[in-house]
Amino acid sequence: MSHADDNVGTRRDFLYYATAGAGAVAAGAAVWPLVNQMNPSADTRALASIHVDVSGVEAGTQLTVKWLGKPVFIRRRTSNEIEKGRAVPLADLVDRSAENANIAAGSDAEDQNRTLDEAGEWLVMMGVCTHLGCVPLGNGAGDFGGWFCPCHGSHYDTAGRIRKGPAPRNLPVPVAAFTDETTIKLG
Ligand code: FES
Repeated sequence: MSHADDNVGTRRDFLYYATAGAGAVAAGAAVWPLVNQMNPSADTRALASIHVDVSGVEAGTQLTVKWLGKPVFIRRRTSNEIEKGRAVPLADLVDRSAENANIAAGSDAEDQNRTLDEAGEWLVMMGVCTHLGCVPLGNGAGDFGGWFCPCHGSHYDTAGRIRKGPAPRNLPVPVAAFTDETTIKLG
């Protein structure tokens, strides 16, 4: 099956650096260095959550944000990607666990358990290969139309599930939720 027709020209990667909250943390650290050092929980909480505006993310494109020092992929899937993801039998999966922090531990890795919304458009994942931590290439890369890690050849499908290569687990879905129609909160 060819995916070239929906890969050309319409998909772009964007990179945003999340800096929200950094100013407040720096000011607090200057005033209360000892407190921050000994009781960092408040600052940690402030940095642990970011809000991402996804209003500009069209179907077939992916936004990459940096969160807690790591890339997070926020992909708005096409209907073709959703169909492909949902057509995969669980038996074909290497990792049959959803690896989704937003649902019960031990849930299976069916496509519906990977996305943020019921329609299956929004897929949010850590952009870190579960083999040795490279950042996989997206936009339909690899043999399964999802992501491909060129470091040692791991192929992920349109739901970010490992399908081939040395990586042992699906790309993990972090704690994430829509706070309004166009904003996703990470953490
Ligand atoms: S780090 Fe991705 S395949 Fe090795």
